[in-house]
Amino acid sequence: MSADDQKRIAGEAAALRVEAGMKVGLGTGSTAAWFVRALAARNLPDLRCVPTSEATADLARELGLTLATLEDTPRLDLTVDGADEVGPGLALIKGGGAALLREKLVWEASDRCIVIADAAKVVKTLGAFPLPIEVVAFGHKTTGNRIADVLADHDITMPARVRTAERGLVRTDGGNLIYDARCGAITDPSRLADDLKLITGVVEHGLFLDLADEAIIGTDDGVEVLVP
Ligand code: A5P
Repeated sequence: MSADDQKRIAGEAAALRVEAGMKVGLGTGSTAAWFVRALAARNLPDLRCVPTSEATADLARELGLTLATLEDTPRLDLTVDGADEVGPGLALIKGGGAALLREKLVWEASDRCIVIADAAKVVKTLGAFPLPIEVVAFGHKTTGNRIADVLADHDITMPARVRTAERGLVRTDGGNLIYDARCGAITDPSRLADDLKLITGVVEHGLFLDLADEAIIGTDDGVEVLVP
């Protein structure tokens, strides 16, 4: 089964967890998009959906889902979202799609969070995927130097690099920048998360710890459910 098929079956399985009348957080990325499509296809009455990015909002709107904001609905029943890595205890790296800030806000506003992924995302140690760190644009090089100091304190010698695309610096939906930290292996995710949050100029990082209640992983043999 291709990785995309694994993402699809994970998204479809997660859509079956949604009930009529729920307030649902919609994640961002190719896996979350499969969930959004499967959810729209169920045509459940009275759903209200809070998207975690403009891209997801566009897709959900196109498919006829009713959109809401965290301002309208500060508490959500369920959020379903993808991840870049799923580690032990369902510790996650997210933010490959640059939506980590809105994602974390929506996850933290949810009573239950389900992460969906293809089998290759499951890892024994977080850190092979570069850790995205969202920073404000003002003074970002100074912030980048402070991130490098924190990483060095965690024995990570590669400085984080500001994310670029063909048209220059990548901007998040909130207008911020992303630094990607090539950690290799994150031995103490919790301490790294705390240390990054203390840097002025860092808005959020892509370590999602103690947030996922369940993982639905698409594998060649069907979906596998993991719990923390
Ligand atoms: C978006 O910012 C990310 O957190 C995505 O959820 C993550 O990058 C997974 O993306 P894919 O589902 O496209 O692999």
